[in-house]
Amino acid sequence: MDVIDILILTLGLIFLRFWWRYWSLTGGGFKNLPPGPPGWPLVGNLFQVILQRRHFIYIVRDLRAKYGPIFTMQMGQRTLVIVTSSQLIHEALVQRGATFASRPPDSPMRLVFSVGKCAINSAEYGPLWRALRRNFVTELINPTRIKQCSWIRKWALENHMKRLKREAFENGFVEVMSNCRLTICSVLICLCFGAKISEDRIKIIESILKDVMLMTTPKLPDFLPVLAPLFRKQMREAKQLRNRQLECLVPLIRKRRAFVEKGENPISEMVSPVGAAYIDSLFGLEPPGRGSLGEEEFVTLCSEIISAGTDTSATTVEWALLHLVMNQGIQQKLYKEVVDCVGKDGLVREEDLEKMPYLGAVVKETLRRHPPSHFLLSHATTEETELCGYTIPANVNVEIYTAWVTEDPELWSDPGEFRPERFLEGDGVDVDVTGTRGVKMAPFGAGRRICPAANLGILHVNLLLARMVHAFKWLPVPKAPPDPTETFAFTVVMKNPLKAIILPR
Ligand code: HEM
Repeated sequence: MDVIDILILTLGLIFLRFWWRYWSLTGGGFKNLPPGPPGWPLVGNLFQVILQRRHFIYIVRDLRAKYGPIFTMQMGQRTLVIVTSSQLIHEALVQRGATFASRPPDSPMRLVFSVGKCAINSAEYGPLWRALRRNFVTELINPTRIKQCSWIRKWALENHMKRLKREAFENGFVEVMSNCRLTICSVLICLCFGAKISEDRIKIIESILKDVMLMTTPKLPDFLPVLAPLFRKQMREAKQLRNRQLECLVPLIRKRRAFVEKGENPISEMVSPVGAAYIDSLFGLEPPGRGSLGEEEFVTLCSEIISAGTDTSATTVEWALLHLVMNQGIQQKLYKEVVDCVGKDGLVREEDLEKMPYLGAVVKETLRRHPPSHFLLSHATTEETELCGYTIPANVNVEIYTAWVTEDPELWSDPGEFRPERFLEGDGVDVDVTGTRGVKMAPFGAGRRICPAANLGILHVNLLLARMVHAFKWLPVPKAPPDPTETFAFTVVMKNPLKAIILPR
């Protein structure tokens, strides 16, 4: 080897050393990103996260303790800026809401299900999102429509109570989550398609939507697109699942169209009057940049409503009941409030719920202590901007970690304790759940992308809880006591789903 070769080799090694250091600190990209753990060249922190074999949320908790309220993780080619403090979340989502209201690019697999981001939750901040969201709000969840559709909830709740009685008689106990999921799913299907369908068909729709959620959770090629060819099989499976979803929902859409346009209703499946179902409003919708929508888009837009509204509300009911089962004092107080309002043998109606402050406090405390999702959906900025003195480039993932806010001992006294009373007299009084006046809890997000159906979600939870506690006393199953261990699915659910004994009151 010549001296010149040795010199080139040495210079090469020095260059590599500096390049590695530069990459590990900056991810090879922007220089003024928030701080974060040093990563490896090209893959950033991706494999460090995978090798830890812990859920992402626990890693984020540790990083927050080390790097503070805002930090960066370089996950392959995706840059994640994680925001965790109350002030920064409020600044980003409310004070500078328009800038932080977009969504990052979708992975190819998610694009299969969103038909190119034609859904409220995934559309970028712009005219398409505005048109879809405005249509949803005015057509499905304005107060008049919610009232007009109360018969759907009455029907679903009657089935729910009968099912609970049957299950308790057959097994000696009931499973809370599966029953609540089925009931809420049947309400949302009826709101979307105006149709009453059999429980078996509801279960099929529910299971397909669950598979879609699993299929669209982040995978390796989402962070390293260069690996996509190795995941051809998964892509094929995603397309097959999409076909199953279409085969399941398109016939329902066609029947509804025949009912709306020609009055056809051979088996009396269509029960909502013309104009009262969400799908009716989509038939004539022409959102900017899309023109009139087709069956693929209808399937996507209705599925997002059923998915977004089912697990979130059912999880909340399950966590609330866990505390009512574990703490009979709270359950008795709630039962007394319901009886004082409607009598022992009366029926809880939707308008009665407003007269039950303790119920409201139980639900808020459940959303504080067990927010269904610990992160909001991924946000993105519409343009490069600054937050907390750092640069936030357009199109990086801005991940809002809201769960930390409700665990912060500087904002809540004894944050780990389940104490509904704090919302009647204590640190929860005057808390703004929408986050507009300040973020002390944000189960529905805050600002422009806040959940547009928070009122409907809360109505479902309140109604289920009030009716279930009014009709039955809820007790632990001695051989399967309530277990508050969490696991992370689409929402944060119980690892061992809650089972309870129910005694008619
Ligand atoms: C307890 C029940 C519910 C909870 C806790 C909840 C929570 C959330 C959260 C955290 C977001 C993300 C906000 C963000 O990214 O900033 C969201 C978005 C959304 N939710 Fe809900 N939700 C609930 C019920 C519902 C229901 C019943 C529906 C429909 C009927 C619904 C439809 C949506 C939609 C369409 C979005 C996307 C909004 C957008 O991107 O503009 N949610 N929800």
